[in-house]
Amino acid sequence: MAETMVSPGGPSGAPHGTPQGETRRDFLTLTTAAFAAVGVGAVVWPFISSMNPARDVLALASTEVDLSPIAVGQAVTVVWRGKPVFVRHRTAEDIQAARATPLSELKDPATDQTRVQQDQWLVVVGVCTHLGCVPLGQKPTDVKGDYNGWFCPCHGSHYDTSGRIRVGPAPLNLPVPDYSFTSDTQIRIG
Ligand code: FES
Repeated sequence: MAETMVSPGGPSGAPHGTPQGETRRDFLTLTTAAFAAVGVGAVVWPFISSMNPARDVLALASTEVDLSPIAVGQAVTVVWRGKPVFVRHRTAEDIQAARATPLSELKDPATDQTRVQQDQWLVVVGVCTHLGCVPLGQKPTDVKGDYNGWFCPCHGSHYDTSGRIRVGPAPLNLPVPDYSFTSDTQIRIG
């Protein structure tokens, strides 16, 4: 009966299945891998290094806002990471209207309670979720839309007093950025 022979040799057919041959081959393989790793590291490090933001950019990663001058019913716009952020001191009516709205009426359902940390303060990124215009509603003379929040004149999106999209082409609510109260009258965004 014929038997199939499997040669332990390499492409040259020379036998190197001995313990010494294995050791030499392993050493060569490991050495090559080490050089490859060093080579990749040398290429990648300057690239990663150049992607690190400069210190002045990092300094703008968070923005402090003093809330004490903002009267009830007023709003301010601050810049955070190059974007406008709306901070509104809501009236009792604003809060009541936001909380009385059934979720079933919302295109992007979210309760008002999940969008604020303190009832009277609403903090949202002021960029329309349709195509990125900055909605009106921050100045006392601005139109605020049908829901007394913000109105985006670009294509007619209306946001309510919780910054939720109610009417128009915008698909999503104005986003709430990461922020925290650092005192009763101060927040840090970012
Ligand atoms: Fe606001 Fe189109 S960008 S409605």
